[in-house]
Amino acid sequence: MNILVTGGAGFIGSHTIIELIQAHHQVVVIDNLCNSNPESLRRVATIVGQEIPFYKADIRDRQRLEEIFSSHSIDACIHFAGLKAVGESVSMPWEYYDNNINGTLTLLDVMRQHHCKNIIFSSSATVYGSPVEIPITENCPKGQCTNPYGWTKSMLEQILTDMHTADSEWNVVLLRYFNPIGAHPSGLIGENPNGIPNNLMPYITQVAIGKRAELGVFGNDYDTHDGTGVRDYIHVVDLAAGHVKALQAIERNCGLDIYNLGTGKGYSVLDVIHAFEEANNIKIPYSIKPRRAGDIATCFSDPSKAYRELGWLAQYDITEMCRDSWNWQRNNPEGF
Ligand code: NAD
Ligand code: UFG
Repeated sequence: MNILVTGGAGFIGSHTIIELIQAHHQVVVIDNLCNSNPESLRRVATIVGQEIPFYKADIRDRQRLEEIFSSHSIDACIHFAGLKAVGESVSMPWEYYDNNINGTLTLLDVMRQHHCKNIIFSSSATVYGSPVEIPITENCPKGQCTNPYGWTKSMLEQILTDMHTADSEWNVVLLRYFNPIGAHPSGLIGENPNGIPNNLMPYITQVAIGKRAELGVFGNDYDTHDGTGVRDYIHVVDLAAGHVKALQAIERNCGLDIYNLGTGKGYSVLDVIHAFEEANNIKIPYSIKPRRAGDIATCFSDPSKAYRELGWLAQYDITEMCRDSWNWQRNNPEGF
């Protein structure tokens, strides 16, 4: 298929392009580079041995989208483009709603005008809010999000659902990611956060490389096996492969489908620190800090629907995730 990848220069998008090309799909990328570096696509080109057609453009720019859809026969869109920093979304809600909601509405409108009604959307476990069941199945009701970023995901899921309800020609796959970490085993591409990392693994790798003195562990009084927060970490290459499998659902005219992409295993913050230390033989100094606002104790998936219906199953374990995260950071101390 000919796939438009929005946000393809970013962390998950760049890894997904590799899996798509290796599965013999063609890709066209649009990214405004607001949170990424074009070097990521050059590295992807090195890995796959072919150039990646790329448009530096904003998905809110209808005219540019029109041009792209007019010059390529796009079969489906994998839609990663969006702002994703939870804390920033609290202080800049308008920017998040404008970028994520208006961007997606513009994209959907141009898509339908060009008779392309197939979309895979990057959603998040955050839409479950404080989940009423663990492990979380796709039947778990959506919950109250704790920040504007989360609401954009929840609202966009509703918008895409309503588009499908109104016009059954739309095939919509909502992929709810759990916690992507790791990097391509080549060490050429990986997560490249700006400034102080918000997320656990990039913070750990920056401590390991000596950029930060120690990790703050946000709370050790949760109701978990060691008191620290438990999450479902998934290797980004597994996550990327999930998108290729999701295209099979589109190919068989799935209508609307929702899948959790996680491993089904929960690891605490201390488990991850210890796994990283063992995998890479590096000590990670840490101290216990107060809880972070908006965090929940435990969040992990039941990924069996994706296995049953798409034949998708995560392959990498926590040791490999820690190894590849470190391999990327060690080879690229300053990122791209
Ligand atoms: P990322 O920031 O690395 O990638 C997103 C890309 O979109 C960036 O390259 C950015 O420049 C681009 N972009 C943003 N707004 C744009 C716009 N208006 N027009 C064009 N390009 C735009 O993030 P990621 O980690 O690769 O995440 C990809 C998607 O997955 C996002 O939608 C994110 O919300 C979602 N997601 C990520 C996680 C995670 O933990 N990384 C978890 C759940 C869901
Ligand atoms: N944590 C620390 N110290 C840090 C960073 C994180 O102790 O410096 C802890 C958190 O408190 C949490 C765990 O590590 O218990 C994971 O935190 P992350 O920030 O890495 O991930 P979250 O689960 O909070 O959120 C991530 C994304 C969200 C997404 C969610 C579900 O940031 O955008 O996963 O997919 F919605």
